[in-house]
Amino acid sequence: MSKRASVLFVCLGNICRSPTAEGVFRKLVEDAGLQEQVYIDSCGTSNWHIGKGPDPRSQEAASNRGIDIGGLKARQFSEKDLDTFDYVVVMDRQNLADVKDIWRQNGGTEPTLFLEYGSTGLAEVPDPYFGGDEGFEHVLDLIEEAGQGLLRNIQERMA
Ligand code: 4NP
Repeated sequence: MSKRASVLFVCLGNICRSPTAEGVFRKLVEDAGLQEQVYIDSCGTSNWHIGKGPDPRSQEAASNRGIDIGGLKARQFSEKDLDTFDYVVVMDRQNLADVKDIWRQNGGTEPTLFLEYGSTGLAEVPDPYFGGDEGFEHVLDLIEEAGQGLLRNIQERMA
């Protein structure tokens, strides 16, 4: 890999988990001084929320940790993303199945579960949409932990 990397975070709606991951990871990358080298985006497998901003509960939970995701707008995953992103990182097994179906036909970057970059032993960032506020805190905890592992992986591949 070159001295550049691109990362796409994928969930179902692109209004809770993946925009949170985009915001958290952007902060980790900026703190490491790599913002010119690492391009970050997020999207959803569904078309349900295209053009909408993140869920207010996600915005508030992120804001409480100093991260502003208010300007993000949801978009849908496209098969072209597999040709343009170096990392396609999904939140749960259903996202993985959905993106892998497209990957088998399209080729390109093989999608991976985000939490494989972490060390909690968990596989999925659970969908917080239908639950309470504590779900959004849990999402942030998991994303912060795995994001550090993903950043280390990128730094190693760039070295
Ligand atoms: P996300 O959460 O995939 O983390 O953005 C969801 C957002 C919306 C819905 C489901 C999950 N929904 O059913 O509308």
